[in-house]
Amino acid sequence: MRRPLVVGNWKMNGSREQNTELLQSILGLLPESEKVELAVCAPFVYIDQVSEQVANTSLALGGQDVSVHVSGAYTGEIAAPMLAEFGCRYAIVGHSERRQYHNESNLLVGQKALSAIQGGLTPIICVGESLEQREIGSALDVIGSQLQSVKSVIGDQGLAKSVIAYEPVWAIGTGLTATPEQAQEVHQFIREQLGSIADGISILYGGSVKAANAADLFAQPDIDGALVGGASLVAEEFINIAKAV
Ligand code: PGA
Repeated sequence: MRRPLVVGNWKMNGSREQNTELLQSILGLLPESEKVELAVCAPFVYIDQVSEQVANTSLALGGQDVSVHVSGAYTGEIAAPMLAEFGCRYAIVGHSERRQYHNESNLLVGQKALSAIQGGLTPIICVGESLEQREIGSALDVIGSQLQSVKSVIGDQGLAKSVIAYEPVWAIGTGLTATPEQAQEVHQFIREQLGSIADGISILYGGSVKAANAADLFAQPDIDGALVGGASLVAEEFINIAKAV
Protein backbone atom coordinates (compact mmCIF):
# COMPACT_ATOMS: atom_id res chain seq x y z
CA MET A 1 0.00 0.00 0.00
CA ARG A 2 1.01 3.62 -0.49
CA ARG A 3 2.43 5.27 2.61
CA PRO A 4 1.12 8.81 3.05
CA LEU A 5 3.73 11.48 2.42
CA VAL A 6 3.79 15.13 3.48
CA VAL A 7 6.53 17.25 1.92
CA GLY A 8 7.40 20.81 2.93
CA ASN A 9 8.66 23.02 0.12
CA TRP A 10 10.51 25.86 1.82
CA LYS A 11 11.01 27.68 -1.50
CA MET A 12 13.46 30.60 -1.18
CA ASN A 13 12.97 31.09 2.54
CA GLY A 14 15.10 30.63 5.63
CA SER A 15 18.46 31.48 7.12
CA ARG A 16 20.85 29.31 9.11
CA GLU A 17 19.26 30.55 12.30
CA GLN A 18 15.65 30.26 11.15
CA ASN A 19 16.26 26.76 9.75
CA THR A 20 17.65 25.51 13.04
CA GLU A 21 14.71 26.95 14.93
CA LEU A 22 12.16 25.50 12.53
CA LEU A 23 13.81 22.08 12.39
CA GLN A 24 14.15 21.83 16.16
CA SER A 25 10.43 22.59 16.51
CA ILE A 26 9.47 20.11 13.79
CA LEU A 27 11.69 17.38 15.22
CA GLY A 28 10.28 17.99 18.71
CA LEU A 29 6.73 17.52 17.42
CA LEU A 30 7.43 14.67 14.96
CA PRO A 31 4.82 11.93 15.39
CA GLU A 32 6.29 8.63 16.53
CA SER A 33 3.96 6.62 14.35
CA GLU A 34 5.42 5.51 11.03
CA LYS A 35 2.05 5.89 9.32
CA VAL A 36 3.11 9.02 7.49
CA GLU A 37 6.45 10.04 6.01
CA LEU A 38 7.58 13.66 6.35
CA ALA A 39 10.18 15.45 4.25
CA VAL A 40 11.44 18.99 3.78
CA CYS A 41 12.87 20.44 0.57
CA ALA A 42 15.35 23.15 1.52
CA PRO A 43 17.20 25.72 -0.63
CA PHE A 44 20.40 24.18 -2.02
CA VAL A 45 22.77 26.21 0.14
CA TYR A 46 21.12 24.85 3.29
CA ILE A 47 21.03 21.18 2.25
CA ASP A 48 24.22 20.46 4.19
CA GLN A 49 22.94 22.18 7.32
CA VAL A 50 19.53 20.48 7.18
CA SER A 51 21.13 17.14 6.36
CA GLU A 52 23.17 17.28 9.57
CA GLN A 53 20.18 18.25 11.66
CA VAL A 54 17.85 15.53 10.34
CA ALA A 55 20.46 12.76 10.45
CA ASN A 56 19.16 9.82 12.52
CA THR A 57 15.61 11.18 12.54
CA SER A 58 12.65 10.07 10.43
CA LEU A 59 12.46 13.46 8.68
CA ALA A 60 13.56 13.05 5.06
CA LEU A 61 15.27 15.68 2.93
CA GLY A 62 14.93 16.82 -0.66
CA GLY A 63 16.07 19.45 -3.14
CA GLN A 64 13.69 21.88 -4.86
CA ASP A 65 15.05 21.24 -8.33
CA VAL A 66 17.77 19.20 -10.03
CA SER A 67 19.91 19.52 -13.13
CA VAL A 68 19.45 17.29 -16.14
CA HIS A 69 23.24 16.91 -16.19
CA VAL A 70 25.45 14.77 -13.98
CA SER A 71 28.50 17.07 -13.95
CA GLY A 72 30.37 19.54 -16.12
CA ALA A 73 30.26 23.14 -17.31
CA TYR A 74 26.73 24.05 -16.19
CA THR A 75 27.14 27.14 -14.05
CA GLY A 76 24.67 27.38 -11.21
CA GLU A 77 23.26 23.87 -11.62
CA ILE A 78 23.09 21.15 -8.95
CA ALA A 79 23.30 17.49 -9.98
CA ALA A 80 21.29 14.62 -8.52
CA PRO A 81 24.36 12.72 -7.23
CA MET A 82 25.37 15.86 -5.31
CA LEU A 83 21.99 15.92 -3.56
CA ALA A 84 22.19 12.20 -2.91
CA GLU A 85 25.62 12.66 -1.34
CA PHE A 86 24.01 14.85 1.31
CA GLY A 87 21.33 12.31 2.10
CA CYS A 88 18.55 13.75 -0.03
CA ARG A 89 15.80 11.29 -0.86
CA TYR A 90 13.68 13.58 -3.06
CA ALA A 91 13.93 16.29 -5.70
CA ILE A 92 10.96 18.41 -6.75
CA VAL A 93 10.81 18.74 -10.53
CA GLY A 94 8.50 20.84 -12.68
CA HIS A 95 7.19 23.05 -9.91
CA SER A 96 4.90 25.64 -11.51
CA GLU A 97 7.17 28.44 -10.29
CA ARG A 98 10.02 26.92 -12.30
CA ARG A 99 7.79 26.28 -15.32
CA GLN A 100 6.56 29.89 -15.13
CA TYR A 101 9.66 31.89 -14.16
CA HIS A 102 12.33 29.73 -15.79
CA ASN A 103 10.40 28.59 -18.85
CA GLU A 104 10.77 24.91 -18.02
CA SER A 105 9.06 22.80 -20.66
CA ASN A 106 7.22 19.52 -20.18
CA LEU A 107 10.12 17.73 -21.87
CA LEU A 108 12.74 19.33 -19.61
CA VAL A 109 10.68 18.29 -16.58
CA GLY A 110 10.78 14.71 -17.85
CA GLN A 111 14.56 14.94 -18.31
CA LYS A 112 14.96 16.27 -14.78
CA ALA A 113 12.85 13.42 -13.44
CA LEU A 114 15.10 10.98 -15.31
CA SER A 115 18.25 12.56 -13.96
CA ALA A 116 16.84 12.45 -10.41
CA ILE A 117 16.07 8.74 -10.75
CA GLN A 118 19.45 7.95 -12.27
CA GLY A 119 21.10 9.83 -9.40
CA GLY A 120 19.28 7.75 -6.80
CA LEU A 121 16.54 10.25 -5.90
CA THR A 122 12.77 10.05 -6.05
CA PRO A 123 11.43 12.87 -8.22
CA ILE A 124 8.32 14.67 -7.02
CA ILE A 125 6.87 15.56 -10.41
CA CYS A 126 4.54 18.56 -10.29
CA VAL A 127 1.66 18.99 -12.69
CA GLY A 128 -1.24 21.41 -12.68
CA GLU A 129 -3.35 23.82 -14.67
CA SER A 130 -3.60 27.62 -14.59
CA LEU A 131 -6.82 29.41 -13.69
CA GLU A 132 -7.42 30.27 -17.33
CA GLN A 133 -6.97 26.65 -18.38
CA ARG A 134 -9.44 25.54 -15.70
CA GLU A 135 -11.96 28.15 -16.72
CA ILE A 136 -11.97 27.10 -20.36
CA GLY A 137 -12.36 23.47 -19.32
CA SER A 138 -8.94 22.22 -20.40
CA ALA A 139 -7.47 21.31 -16.98
CA LEU A 140 -7.46 17.56 -17.59
CA ASP A 141 -6.02 17.95 -21.11
CA VAL A 142 -3.18 20.09 -19.76
CA ILE A 143 -2.38 17.67 -16.96
CA GLY A 144 -2.68 14.69 -19.31
CA SER A 145 -0.10 16.17 -21.68
CA GLN A 146 2.25 17.15 -18.83
CA LEU A 147 2.15 13.52 -17.69
CA GLN A 148 2.56 12.10 -21.18
CA SER A 149 5.67 14.21 -21.81
CA VAL A 150 7.26 12.93 -18.61
CA LYS A 151 6.27 9.38 -19.48
CA SER A 152 7.83 9.72 -22.93
CA VAL A 153 11.18 10.30 -21.19
CA ILE A 154 11.07 8.04 -18.12
CA GLY A 155 8.53 5.39 -19.16
CA ASP A 156 6.42 3.34 -16.78
CA GLN A 157 9.57 2.10 -15.12
CA GLY A 158 10.53 5.65 -14.15
CA LEU A 159 7.02 6.65 -13.17
CA ALA A 160 6.89 3.67 -10.81
CA LYS A 161 9.85 5.25 -8.95
CA SER A 162 8.27 8.72 -8.81
CA VAL A 163 5.83 10.71 -6.74
CA ILE A 164 3.32 12.91 -8.58
CA ALA A 165 2.09 16.19 -7.12
CA TYR A 166 -1.07 17.81 -8.44
CA GLU A 167 -0.77 21.54 -7.84
CA PRO A 168 -3.37 23.76 -9.48
CA VAL A 169 -1.40 26.92 -10.22
CA TRP A 170 -4.31 29.13 -9.10
CA ALA A 171 -4.19 27.56 -5.63
CA ILE A 172 -0.46 28.04 -4.95
CA GLY A 173 0.25 30.71 -2.37
CA THR A 174 -3.12 32.33 -3.03
CA GLY A 175 -5.09 30.98 -0.09
CA LEU A 176 -7.45 29.37 -2.63
CA THR A 177 -7.59 25.60 -2.33
CA ALA A 178 -9.19 23.20 -4.75
CA THR A 179 -12.22 21.70 -3.03
CA PRO A 180 -11.64 18.09 -1.98
CA GLU A 181 -13.97 17.06 -4.82
CA GLN A 182 -12.10 19.13 -7.43
CA ALA A 183 -8.80 17.70 -6.25
CA GLN A 184 -10.12 14.14 -6.15
CA GLU A 185 -11.42 14.45 -9.73
CA VAL A 186 -7.93 15.32 -10.96
CA HIS A 187 -6.17 12.76 -8.76
CA GLN A 188 -8.47 10.03 -10.07
CA PHE A 189 -7.75 11.18 -13.62
CA ILE A 190 -3.99 11.07 -12.96
CA ARG A 191 -4.30 7.58 -11.51
CA GLU A 192 -6.20 6.42 -14.59
CA GLN A 193 -3.49 7.90 -16.81
CA LEU A 194 -0.85 5.94 -14.89
CA GLY A 195 -2.52 2.68 -15.90
CA SER A 196 -1.40 -0.63 -14.49
CA ILE A 197 1.31 0.84 -12.23
CA ALA A 198 -1.02 3.42 -10.67
CA ASP A 199 -1.70 1.62 -7.40
CA GLY A 200 1.90 1.90 -6.25
CA ILE A 201 2.37 5.60 -7.03
CA SER A 202 1.74 8.33 -4.46
CA ILE A 203 -0.15 11.35 -5.73
CA LEU A 204 0.16 14.42 -3.50
CA TYR A 205 -2.04 17.49 -3.53
CA GLY A 206 -0.48 20.96 -3.26
CA GLY A 207 -1.82 24.49 -3.16
CA SER A 208 -2.58 26.37 0.07
CA VAL A 209 -2.73 23.19 2.14
CA LYS A 210 -2.97 23.95 5.85
CA ALA A 211 -3.96 22.10 9.00
CA ALA A 212 -7.54 23.34 8.68
CA ASN A 213 -8.18 21.86 5.21
CA ALA A 214 -5.84 18.86 5.23
CA ALA A 215 -8.18 16.26 6.74
CA ASP A 216 -10.91 16.84 4.12
CA LEU A 217 -8.37 16.57 1.31
CA PHE A 218 -6.77 13.43 2.73
CA ALA A 219 -10.20 11.81 3.11
CA GLN A 220 -10.32 11.52 -0.70
CA PRO A 221 -9.40 8.05 -1.96
CA ASP A 222 -6.75 9.18 -4.46
CA ILE A 223 -5.01 11.85 -2.36
CA ASP A 224 -1.97 10.29 -0.72
CA GLY A 225 -0.46 13.31 0.99
CA ALA A 226 0.53 16.90 0.39
CA LEU A 227 3.19 19.20 -0.99
CA VAL A 228 3.08 22.17 1.35
CA GLY A 229 4.59 25.62 0.77
CA GLY A 230 3.76 28.44 3.17
CA ALA A 231 2.38 26.25 5.96
CA SER A 232 5.57 24.16 6.03
CA LEU A 233 7.42 27.16 7.48
CA VAL A 234 5.36 26.93 10.66
CA ALA A 235 6.27 23.79 12.62
CA GLU A 236 2.89 23.26 14.26
CA GLU A 237 0.98 23.71 11.02
CA PHE A 238 3.28 21.33 9.18
CA ILE A 239 3.00 18.66 11.87
CA ASN A 240 -0.77 19.08 12.14
CA ILE A 241 -1.07 18.56 8.38
CA ALA A 242 0.85 15.30 8.81
CA LYS A 243 -1.38 14.31 11.72
CA ALA A 244 -4.46 14.92 9.57
CA VAL A 245 -3.36 12.01 7.38
P1 PGA B 1 1.54 26.84 -0.94
O1 PGA B 1 2.61 26.27 -1.98
O2 PGA B 1 1.24 25.72 0.04
O3 PGA B 1 2.20 28.01 -0.29
O4 PGA B 1 0.32 27.20 -1.72
C1 PGA B 1 2.53 24.95 -2.43
C2 PGA B 1 3.64 24.67 -3.40
O5 PGA B 1 3.98 25.56 -4.20
O6 PGA B 1 4.22 23.57 -3.41
